[in-house]
Amino acid sequence: MNFTPLRISTLKPGRDIPFSLYIFFKEQYLEYVKPGMSLDEDKFKKLKKQKISKFFILDQDENAYQEFLDELINETLDDKNASLESKVDIVEGQAETALEKIQEDPGSEKSFNMTRKAAQNLRKIIFENPDALKAIFGSDSESEPIIQHSLNVCVLAIKFAKSQKCSEEDIDFLSTAALMHDVGVVQLPEEHQELFKKNKKEFSPQDHLAYYAHIKAAIKILSDKPYINNKIIELIENHAENRSGGGPNKLKKLTKPMEILSLINAYDRKIYTSGITPAEAIQELSIDELGNYDLKMIQDFQKLLKAEGIA
Ligand SMILES: [Fe+2]
Repeated sequence: MNFTPLRISTLKPGRDIPFSLYIFFKEQYLEYVKPGMSLDEDKFKKLKKQKISKFFILDQDENAYQEFLDELINETLDDKNASLESKVDIVEGQAETALEKIQEDPGSEKSFNMTRKAAQNLRKIIFENPDALKAIFGSDSESEPIIQHSLNVCVLAIKFAKSQKCSEEDIDFLSTAALMHDVGVVQLPEEHQELFKKNKKEFSPQDHLAYYAHIKAAIKILSDKPYINNKIIELIENHAENRSGGGPNKLKKLTKPMEILSLINAYDRKIYTSGITPAEAIQELSIDELGNYDLKMIQDFQKLLKAEGIA
């Protein structure tokens, strides 16, 4: 039997679950909830306390889970009485589940579709709730750093692209690309994956080559997939380019969505690789990256971070 993980935050206490839920305990999968049963509030709290954030389902129940989740998310996001926290929890859970899947199987259509939906729901929650960005940015310390980074870049890119007057279509592709942009990192040999956590300033020329192989690795997997739009692939391919041609592809002419993705990736990278605050990171970026991005764009980004209460 094959199992696939899901975040507990994508379930709801008291709601019937149409498939079996398993936990992974002492090297084996144990059935925790039978189909048609639900989890009560107390169990939810207990699991949270024990820091158990994942259940597993059988691969064959994947479609039933996706249907269940779509319905639950639509209901929650449209519920005027639901708290922002409950909305953020479930959409974040969907994005985290999707990103974990995509790391495991980057080329699969199912993983891609879930990532696409997560990006769409993140746009919805960000546009409809003024406080959502701050609630999601840097929020989940239980996630792997790469997943939190992908979420950070995605929500910042959504909000910033809107304020930079990008089209709905551009924001759609940008938000998906932002979630997926680092899928190539887990394809690198293990010792090179560590470079994800290393500050770019400390990169040797060898580090540079080894780390940026993650972009080629991602493109190799994604480029022949008919269900992935070329614009998404182009954004992922160029997410480390800048106006001075210092990126791995030496591109100097960037589209606006490309420049936004690259700027925000560089910004969030500063925070988690050097442990500085979001406010310090934007100060540092406006000095270090001068000439790499449009000056007005850097200034606008700084203003946005301030207005959002992030920096
Ligand atoms: Fe990144």
